[in-house]
Amino acid sequence: MRVYFDNAATTPLDPDVMKEMYKVMENQFGNPSSIHAHGREARTLIERSRKTIAGLLHTSPAEIFFTSSGTEADNTAIRCGIIDHNITHAITSHTEHHAVLHTLEAMEKSGLIKLSFVNIDSKGTIDYDHLETLLKENERSFVSLMHANNEIGTLSDMERVGDLCETYNAIYHCDTVQTMGHYPHDLSKLKAHFLVCAAHKLHGPKGVGFLHINHKIKIKPFIYGGAQERNMRGGTENIYGIVGLAKSLELAYSEMGQHQSHIQGLKSYMMEQLTANVPGVSFNGETDADKSLYTVLNVSFPEMEMSDMLLFNLDIAGISASGGSACSSGSDIGSHVLTAIGASSSRPSVRFSFSKYNTKEEVDFVVAKVRELCAVNV
Ligand SMILES: Cc1ncc(COP(=O)(O)O)c(C=O)c1O
Repeated sequence: MRVYFDNAATTPLDPDVMKEMYKVMENQFGNPSSIHAHGREARTLIERSRKTIAGLLHTSPAEIFFTSSGTEADNTAIRCGIIDHNITHAITSHTEHHAVLHTLEAMEKSGLIKLSFVNIDSKGTIDYDHLETLLKENERSFVSLMHANNEIGTLSDMERVGDLCETYNAIYHCDTVQTMGHYPHDLSKLKAHFLVCAAHKLHGPKGVGFLHINHKIKIKPFIYGGAQERNMRGGTENIYGIVGLAKSLELAYSEMGQHQSHIQGLKSYMMEQLTANVPGVSFNGETDADKSLYTVLNVSFPEMEMSDMLLFNLDIAGISASGGSACSSGSDIGSHVLTAIGASSSRPSVRFSFSKYNTKEEVDFVVAKVRELCAVNV
């Protein structure tokens, strides 16, 4: 048996998405910028996909801009949101994805902004009072706070952050890479200026995503070149990817409730089984189902010999998962997220992340293997 429990890293392509993409690969090769019939057919596919996505998210197609990845969408929002609006202060948290953290840190290093970090607690939850204090002290800040943490699953309250940003005239970017297609986002109500999506996190293809730019904010192009994406992002579009992205989001929305209860069931069952079978396990991040991304479970195991071999041993045992413990003092190897929440650096941590394709039998298999490995290595 081989088990894939690394769905926060990427998900397998849904066969229906593949079929849709394959049809395009087989039949459509036109450049969407060409004005002849081949080009027009390709253009129609892109605009139809944009309309599908906008419809699902309750927004206008004019606010959806296709990108090559979640990382590109994050970079675009941050760099353009800050530079084009003459922002000099940004607020983020130490648990953000590197697509956000490294971008903001590079901007701070080059003297473009002063960067503040909002306090978080030991579960990775934002201190909203501290966020308000930072916003009060720095009128017109740029705020970048993710919806769900990709390592520990802790969710932020987007409505609360949005209200605070509105009150203090801040620009709000939310990295929604881990939650798009997993929760119903109603963009007609959310107050975020920028939201992002990466298709490969929801059974779509790799190398394609989008940036949602709320109509209330304008930015200049991020990539200069041709007139693609209404002059905002030069470069011939990834037609197959865009069609696959729209199909994956459509499928995700049509089956969302069903998948959420199936995956949440697996996560709760795995927590129960690990607690019952592996003495000394604990869970990192928020564990309350309402405040935690249902696809992610981050587990700390008891101290053991050769703890840095745990992931390798799991791999050998047929389990694909990912992880990294908190950094020990003086080292910067390891998980910046676990370090930020103060997790122990001497205990190995593994992130198990689930999808609609996983089963209870797979959880049983993984728990049995983990139990064996922990018993051998104590
Ligand atoms: C929270 C978060 N943001 C951004 C990204 C980057 O997305 P991509 O892999 O499409 O560049 C990821 C991917 O792991 C992520 O989990």
